Order: sequence, then structure tokens, then C-alpha cells
Amino acid sequence: MNITAIYPGTFDPITNGHLDLIQRAARLFDRVLVAVAENPKKSPWFDLSDRVGMVSEVIEPVANVSVIGFNTLLVDTAASYGAQVIIRGLRAVSDFEFEFQLAGMNRRLSPELETVFLTPSEQFAFISSSMIREIAQLNGDVSSFVPPAVLVLLNKKLAHTPA
Ligand code: COA
Repeated sequence: MNITAIYPGTFDPITNGHLDLIQRAARLFDRVLVAVAENPKKSPWFDLSDRVGMVSEVIEPVANVSVIGFNTLLVDTAASYGAQVIIRGLRAVSDFEFEFQLAGMNRRLSPELETVFLTPSEQFAFISSSMIREIAQLNGDVSSFVPPAVLVLLNKKLAHTPA
């Protein structure tokens, strides 16, 4: 059976933790679609096209992974790309409640779509995009949490953001 998995998120920015999950998913499924949500309610730092470009740049070497941006219901995007599985990451117990709710709602909206949870390597279990943004904004070193290309974009963004 040929299985396409969709990995949705805001990816503002993509981190080494997300990449770890993408690599795990790419080994498990025939095709992995990283789906970057516009998600205006999170007021992302990077606009959708920048986030899609950033993800495409850092996943380049993985053959069965591709990237899309979306601003519809996740279940509709999944259906339009023929995805049978949603991948979500679980880093700690604190993620569970929200993820349980999201998986339950997505199942009500599209019963045939299964949510599969993966856990990142333990060295990435504490990373989050908002922490990365905060540390970078306060001139902290985030080089071990994001790929080099993302570091360049973060620095560029900060250089153009008024203090
Ligand atoms: N490594 C590092 N960080 C990780 C991670 C990992 N493996 N897994 C999750 N995170 C972090 C993210 O960095 C993010 O941190 P932040 O909140 O500090 O920025 C946080 O965990 C969760 O973000 P993410 O995984 O990107 O998901 P999200 O909660 O931003 O995205 C969507 C939620 C996009 C999946 C959801 O809003 C959605 O499906 N939207 C589409 C519209 C829709 O269908 N809505 C109805 C849903 S029922």
C-alpha cells in the first residue's frame, strides 16, 4: 500500500526538532508532505511563502519529502493530496492535551484520516519555534536548534526588524 503522510505545522521557523521528525516520517511512509499552515492566529514572524521556502531549502536531500503551503482546513488539504495519515510530534506530556483534541476533531471531520504521533530525539524534546524566536531576538545563540540556512534567515529578519 502506498501511503502519503501529511505533517502540518506553522514552522515559524522550522527547527532541528521538526527536521528530526520529518526524517523519521520519511523512513516510515512512501511520501511525506510537509504542510506549512498560514495560521494567521499565531501572527507568524515569517510570512507563508518565506516559511515554505525555508522548509524546502532545509529538506532538499530527502527524496520522498515535499513541501506545500495551505490556508484551508487540514483535512481538506490532506484529501486533495491523497494523504491517508497526519503526522504530529509529541515532545512532552504537555503537548498531549492539545494534540488529543486536534486528533479527535480531525477524526470527526475526516474519519478515514489517521493521526500518527512521533517523538523527536531527546535532545530536541524541549525546542519550540517561539523559544527560538525569543532567544534570537535577545541575541542568544540558537545555532544548535535550527539548520544553518534558518539561522541566516533569522539573523536577516532581526536585522530588518526595528528594536
Ligand atoms: N520540534 C520542535 N518543535 C516542535 C516540534 C518538534 N518536533 N513539534 C512541535 N513543535 C513546536 C512548534 O515549534 C510550535 O512551537 P510554538 O508554538 O512555540 O511556535 C509548537 O510545537 C506547535 O506548533 P506546530 O507543531 O507547528 O503546530 P501548530 O500548533 O502551530 O499547528 C496546525 C497547528 C497547523 C496543525 C493546526 O492549526 C491546523 O491544522 N490548522 C489548519 C486549519 C485547521 O484545519 N483547523 C482545524 C483543526 S481541528
